[in-house]
Amino acid sequence: MSITAVAHPNIALIKYWGKQALPGNIPATPSVSITLDSLTSTTTVRPSETDQIHLNGEATADAKISACLEMLRADFSIEPVAIESENNFPTAAGLASSASGFAALITALAEFSDLGLTTEERTVYARKASGSAARSIFGGFASLGGPDWVGKPVLDRNDWPLKVVIAITDENRKSVSSSLGMKTSEETSPYYDAWVSSTADDYRAALEAIAARDFERLAVLSESSCLKMHGVMQSSLPAMIYWRPATLSCIHAVRELRSNGTPVFFTIDAGPQVKAVCLPEAVDKVAGELAAIPGVIATHTVGLGEGARLLEP
Ligand code: DP6
Repeated sequence: MSITAVAHPNIALIKYWGKQALPGNIPATPSVSITLDSLTSTTTVRPSETDQIHLNGEATADAKISACLEMLRADFSIEPVAIESENNFPTAAGLASSASGFAALITALAEFSDLGLTTEERTVYARKASGSAARSIFGGFASLGGPDWVGKPVLDRNDWPLKVVIAITDENRKSVSSSLGMKTSEETSPYYDAWVSSTADDYRAALEAIAARDFERLAVLSESSCLKMHGVMQSSLPAMIYWRPATLSCIHAVRELRSNGTPVFFTIDAGPQVKAVCLPEAVDKVAGELAAIPGVIATHTVGLGEGARLLEP
């Protein structure tokens, strides 16, 4: 018997970067995200003599997946399993493959091993595996904040159907994992404390902007959160400079578009790709402008997607 689950990446508008000095992978900053459609992690779990992990068709000894199994086995009895996970988009290139991968894995394992987890509990185990994965349990807009650090649904995707144009500026795997990058920032960036303390206000304001469907307010807050996070990354030692020249060109293009009245803003995660979030009426214009920028390898236009779910056999 095998169980398959699918989940989509999410992109944070208010970012998680840094962890509290507590067990359970508790973020230092609350975050708000949108879950995307079209990009998909599909994860199948089946019985096996020993644990086996295949990622995109290749056997791997992925340390984070092994740690996730160990974390669940501390609370539940789980037999050896074979895990196969496929992404229909580049893995670990700043497209949040760990969020969709772990949201799908926890959802599949919970069913396979009959763990009896509530949705809320699934977000907690997903968070322990990878902080951003807690948000991919939900579709549309989702949050991960204190004091309980449980993932929560914020707004259904149909209630504000934003579009996202993803501009790919580099397809190589990133060199620094988010966990290591966060630790470096915590220990070395002189801006780290200001980043953590200022994000609480951004988080509250972004939740209000989403509730009010206030695009301009959300745009200002999201771009600010993104640039503050990259300021922390770039002021860490060693510095993490994820941007390529085309990343910066896209930032300028998006700012120019918005100053001319096009409803669009940018956000960038721990990688070189730019995600331009826009209202549906602006999507063709935004996609056309970004595709024409030298150094942009491809653009993908996506909408808001559903939460992690089981696939019927
Ligand atoms: C820049 O969730 O990958 O995408 O908890 O260590 O697995 P771990 O980190 P991860 O970090 C996400 C960082 C980010 C911002 C965000 O998604 O909020």
